[in-house]
Amino acid sequence: MADNRPIGVFDSGIGGLTVLREIIARLPSESTVYYGDDGRAPYGSKSHDTIVEYSLQDMMFLEQKDVKMIVIACNTASTHAIDALRKHSKVPVVEVVYPGAKAAVKATRNGRIGIIATNATVSSGLYEKAVKEEGRDIPGLQIIQQACPLFVSLAEEGWWDDEIAHLTAERYLAPIKEFGVDTLVLACTHYPLLAKTIGDVMGPDVTLINSGISVASVVEELLRDNEMLSDGAAVTREFFTSDDAHRFESVAAPFLGRGLPQGTRKVTVDRFDVAEYLG
Ligand code: DGL
Repeated sequence: MADNRPIGVFDSGIGGLTVLREIIARLPSESTVYYGDDGRAPYGSKSHDTIVEYSLQDMMFLEQKDVKMIVIACNTASTHAIDALRKHSKVPVVEVVYPGAKAAVKATRNGRIGIIATNATVSSGLYEKAVKEEGRDIPGLQIIQQACPLFVSLAEEGWWDDEIAHLTAERYLAPIKEFGVDTLVLACTHYPLLAKTIGDVMGPDVTLINSGISVASVVEELLRDNEMLSDGAAVTREFFTSDDAHRFESVAAPFLGRGLPQGTRKVTVDRFDVAEYLG
C-alpha cells in the first residue's frame, strides 16, 4: 500500500535545499516538508551539545508534521546528532555523510580527496573516518580537511558568485589546491550554492561532490525497500523557517526554481522539550 505521508527534511538554514532539490528531482511524486533553522544558524560554530539539542527539536517539529522519514540535510547535524536522532526518531532517519563519502571514493582517480566543511564537522572527525572506511581499498589514500565557515554566511546572504565569494574561496582553498586533490567533497549542504565559485577556483580537473545526489538515491532505496513510496496523489511542498519567511523565499527561489518555495511560514522549535532525550 502507498504511503503518502511527506518526507521531512531539515537543515540549519537554506543549505538543505541543495538536498531537497535532488530529492524532488528523483522522487517528484513524494510530498515534502522542509524546515530551515535560519534563526539559530550557523550550527557549524556551535558546541556538540547545542547541535544535538537543536537537531532533536528539528526532528520533533517534523514528527509533528506526520512525516514518514527524516532527512538530516546538514553535515554538521549529521556528524553530531545522528546517534541521538536514530535513537529517538519514530521514523527512519537518513544522514548525508556516508553517501557523500561513498561518492568521493568512487570519483577519485589519484587517491587525494579534499573535504571542506564547517568547523564542527571538521573537528568531529567523522567525515574523514567515513572517507577512510569507504576508501579502505584505495592504496595510499590521502585526505585533507579545511573548515570554511564564511561560506555559510555567503550562502545565506545569496552572495554565491561575486567578488567577495571568489576572494574568500581562493583563500580557503589554497592549501587544498596545493595538496593536489582531484576530488573535493562539499561536506556542508550550504556549499553547493557556491559550487560555481568553488569550481572556478579549483579548476576543471577537480570533481566537486555534492552529496545531495547520493542522498536522494539512499532515500529512494529506503522507501522502496520498506514499501513506503507514495502513489503521487496530492503532492504537497511545505516550507518552514525560524527566521524571516520573505528573506528565506527570496534567497531560496533562484536556487530551487519551478516556483518554489511558496507560502513559507515562520515557526520556532525551541518550545520542544528535549530534556527527556538528553537525560
Ligand atoms: N548546512 C550545514 C552543514 O551541512 C551547516 C551550516 C551551518 O553551519 O549552520 O553542515
